[in-house]
Amino acid sequence: MRMRPLGPAAPQVSAIGFGGMPLSIQDRPDERQAVDVIHAALGAGMTLIDTADVYCLDDNDIGHNERLIAKALSSWPTSRDSIIVATKGGMIRPDGRWQRRGSPEHLAAACDRSLRALGVERIDLYQFHAPDTAVPFEDSVAALAALREEGKIRWVGLSNVSVAQIQAAQAIVEVTTVQNRLSPFFREALETGVVKYCRENGIGFLAYSPVGGGRLNKKLPAHPEARSIGDRHKVSAHAVVLAWVLARAPNVIAIPGARTVAHALDSAAAAELVLEPEELEVIDRADFSTA
Ligand SMILES: NC(=O)c1ccc[n+]([C@@H]2O[C@H](COP(=O)([O-])OP(=O)(O)OC[C@H]3O[C@@H](n4cnc5c(N)ncnc54)[C@H](OP(=O)(O)O)[C@@H]3O)[C@@H](O)[C@H]2O)c1
Repeated sequence: MRMRPLGPAAPQVSAIGFGGMPLSIQDRPDERQAVDVIHAALGAGMTLIDTADVYCLDDNDIGHNERLIAKALSSWPTSRDSIIVATKGGMIRPDGRWQRRGSPEHLAAACDRSLRALGVERIDLYQFHAPDTAVPFEDSVAALAALREEGKIRWVGLSNVSVAQIQAAQAIVEVTTVQNRLSPFFREALETGVVKYCRENGIGFLAYSPVGGGRLNKKLPAHPEARSIGDRHKVSAHAVVLAWVLARAPNVIAIPGARTVAHALDSAAAAELVLEPEELEVIDRADFSTA
């Protein structure tokens, strides 16, 4: 498995990490299958698992994905120290909707809940899920800095942020990672300079929804350019897209989700796929309509 630095003062992790969300939202598999999928990802060499307290059905189900990951890790033979679990706080799920909640009080309580759900004394990487317009961004970041001071979290990450917000956060706390959406379908992290800024500052960039997310990824097997490059390398169109994402910059780590063992293994294998410059240009120019 190709490895990449997670961020300042953090270890290397697999270039493809596991995105836990599909295992806990609507259409989730049963627990046995979900644990098998996580074990398959770990067995294939993934050493980073991304989760969040809100990867669940609604507010009555908060922590579902964190508890699932804790369960899968408890029955995995390798030392837990070699696997980094990244969770998030800063959202709620009233009636299944996604709402931002960035108050320091919420973040402190959410972190305590995540510690319990994950069954750990310190969270490896705690990410602020998304800026909340009702709360000054700096107040939310200061809450994460306080949690770090208290020893409840090891590294601080941000998600769904701009370059200006990363800079504002860096004035308060060391930022280890930034997690924004990035795929050939959605390139704003490149266009707004977030990936470049992270690269220049040694910050790991976690590319979420790297194959386009739950709906758009289903277009990939029929995507003319991704499929034809995949055929040439004897890999899936999904793998081609993941290789394109990783080729954006050496600090990019992709975190595809999966509900099946086959999809998790296919994504893990994509870490070894290196596309030719001309193939990357073909994907650059190809139509990835989001319609
Ligand atoms: N920070 C944020 O705001 C935020 C937002 C969204 C997501 N995320 C994180 O990013 C992770 C990934 O994002 P996502 O789940 O939205 O989208 P995604 O990884 O782009 O796509 C998810 C779906 O694509 C399918 N898939 C993935 N790899 C495949 C492969 N190699 N072959 C065939 N199908 C494949 C899977 O379908 P099946 O389910 O059928 O296996 C999976 O559920 C999430 O799990 C979560 O950890 C973060």
